[in-house]
Amino acid sequence: MTEQKTWSQRFEGALHPAIARFNASISFDIQLIEYDLTGSMAHAKMLGKTGIISLDEADKLIKGLEQIRQEHRQGLFKPGIDAEDVHFAVERRLTELVGDVGKKLHTARSRNDQVGTDTRLYLRDQIQQIRQQIRDFQSVLLELADRHVETLIPGYTHLQRAQPISLAHHLMAYFEMAQRDWDRLGEIYQRVDICPLGAGALAGTTFPIDRHFSAQELGFSRPYNNSLDAVSDRDFAIEFLCASSLILVHLSRLSEEVILWASQEFSFITLTDSCATGSSIMPQKKNPDVPELVRGKTGRVFGHLQGMLVLMKGLPLAYNKDLQEDKESLFDAVKTVKSCLEAMTILMSEGIQFREQRLAEAVAEDFSNATDVADYLAAKGVPFREAYNLVGKVVKTSLSAGKLLKDLTLEEWKALHPAFETDIYAAIAPKQVVSARNSYGGTGFEQVRQALTEAKIRFKQG
Ligand code: ARG
Repeated sequence: MTEQKTWSQRFEGALHPAIARFNASISFDIQLIEYDLTGSMAHAKMLGKTGIISLDEADKLIKGLEQIRQEHRQGLFKPGIDAEDVHFAVERRLTELVGDVGKKLHTARSRNDQVGTDTRLYLRDQIQQIRQQIRDFQSVLLELADRHVETLIPGYTHLQRAQPISLAHHLMAYFEMAQRDWDRLGEIYQRVDICPLGAGALAGTTFPIDRHFSAQELGFSRPYNNSLDAVSDRDFAIEFLCASSLILVHLSRLSEEVILWASQEFSFITLTDSCATGSSIMPQKKNPDVPELVRGKTGRVFGHLQGMLVLMKGLPLAYNKDLQEDKESLFDAVKTVKSCLEAMTILMSEGIQFREQRLAEAVAEDFSNATDVADYLAAKGVPFREAYNLVGKVVKTSLSAGKLLKDLTLEEWKALHPAFETDIYAAIAPKQVVSARNSYGGTGFEQVRQALTEAKIRFKQG
């Protein structure tokens, strides 16, 4: 069986069916249909306004396109492989619906500027939705942080206990990352928001089109300046994949922490039933599948970024069919980022409970107040390096005696250095240790409260 040919009379033979399938993008670019219809309506309107076709013809085209939209929304529009791609599918259906005037739609346009327009319209929408999801995620973090300013948690470097910190401070670090993600997508939006429509196949068109009008109709900030660039630029998609990768880097790091915290070794949180899963064989288990999946899905988005960079690097100007390969990566990245943001927002709002008692014990059972002993001496005039060495010795002897710093008697302290007074005990209590780090951006409670207030203001400003 051979396929019906889609193109001009130049072709005598039909495509080999396997090649037709290989060539077709309809199975995935059907996702662009709403945007394809919107873009075509704006184009038809522009053709009418400039007199390239009559206003009556433009009207017929727009009505026909509107009807296809209804058919699509009712699940009645199901083009097959023979349509090749969404653009041909729409044009063919339009001609069935409105007759020969349907064949005028493609005047002064090519699928090359058309697909670029559709993809940008799609991505503009998706970016707005993802930014809203980031806001929802941030607001959950903010609420959680608000409740846990004075909850302490061990802070780590090298995954070794370093200094205790406020749990709110820890959570707000992720709020800040999300804030950059939100900002970054806003900046990228501006470069997605440029209209390639009317660039034609590559060189513009002989018709007196009005590119500014169609750009404005579609709500784009402006048309592309250069027709070659317009049809072959995919920077905007790469930037989006890069921003998506960073969103997932952040979600994946948080996921990793949640997984650690839920382990018996840490026991900092418990997973609630609504977000945890069981094992098919070990009845005692409660698994952190949600953060594990987020961590795992991160890899696919990095892959799409890499794939798109490689796709572009050797392409001569202007359009090449390679560019059809941009869509599945983009669609999958969008789907992945959205599902991960949704899952993490739910996880952070109802999927975890901090074990406050256990956290309080955790910050009191180690030597993470050692820096504070050194700072105590340094504040009394002992050079910091000297104090640091002295405290190193204390830690060593306490460890072998099975004691913590808080267990040393005043005589023992004084034997180490005469500058120690009874206030050393207050200075090394976990709450005081955290509270004292009151430098700008630090974990001191005053700073954390200040940071929360500022975040709320920034958040409200949009
Ligand atoms: N399906 C094509 C794509 O996704 C549309 C553009 C086709 N243009 C062409 N000159 N063959 O890129």
